[in-house]
Amino acid sequence: MIKKCLFPAAGYGTRFLPATKSMPKEMMPIVNKPLIEYGVDEAIQAGMTDMCIVTGRGKHSLMDHFDKNYELEHQISGTSKEALLDDIRSVIDSANFTYIRQREMKGLGHAILTGRDLVGDNPFAVVLADDLCINPDQGVLAQMVALYKQFRCSIVAVEEVPADETHKYGVIAGETLTDNLMRVTDMVEKPEQGTAPSNLAIIGRYILTPDIFDIIENTEPGKGGEIQITDALLQQAKGGCVLAYKFKGKRFDCGSVEGFIEATNYCFENVYKG
Ligand code: UTP
Repeated sequence: MIKKCLFPAAGYGTRFLPATKSMPKEMMPIVNKPLIEYGVDEAIQAGMTDMCIVTGRGKHSLMDHFDKNYELEHQISGTSKEALLDDIRSVIDSANFTYIRQREMKGLGHAILTGRDLVGDNPFAVVLADDLCINPDQGVLAQMVALYKQFRCSIVAVEEVPADETHKYGVIAGETLTDNLMRVTDMVEKPEQGTAPSNLAIIGRYILTPDIFDIIENTEPGKGGEIQITDALLQQAKGGCVLAYKFKGKRFDCGSVEGFIEATNYCFENVYKG
């Protein structure tokens, strides 16, 4: 039902400099697989077939990763190393990849709007690949697609974070519908310390209905002078319904050094070896 998944991947990744000076943050490997490939795996597992990637300057390696490398394949053909390409070959065969450039980094809301022509007039998913989500039973996007089938409105994934970390996230307030589902009544991007409406932080998984594009177009720059998806979603929530879903699984903020190391250790033990 939801076939398209948008990957905003144009950001500068300043928290990971100098590594991200010439390498996209999304290409940083957790063990032996780049972050973006984990996100694409999750989207495929949720039944999506069209991966729409918003790129920026210096992000060519993202496109190369989801394409054939004839020279390399010829070189290792018939050797034991060939099996190391099995997963990425299957990803390339399972999905279509399209790309669009965000010419100016005007924020996540603007990056999503940049993907409009790729997504069209359909509900779609958004994955921020630097949030790595792991749930062996059912990926977070698959959980959200199941909810979308029921409610047919935009959904954001949320996680409880310590009160002294809410200023790093978009934070929601909502009316409880079930144990893990809320209807959003308020949303604040990176609230000042002590002013957050709750400790429920939005993480990098969204399902959005296409009316969000017109709303983003009419959204003024907010926090940090950037066009914030949080501000657009609050408008959508006021005019209709946006749900916040406490997902099942683990999430690592791989845009930060600490989260990246945690994810690496976890995936080495539980995914790579396991
Ligand atoms: P972040 O807030 O993590 O920013 O963006 P960043 O630039 O990637 O990293 P830091 O904070 O400087 O270290 C959240 C997501 O939105 C994308 C980023 O690529 C990331 O996936 N993004 C952000 C864009 O695609 N375009 C933008 O203008 C801003």
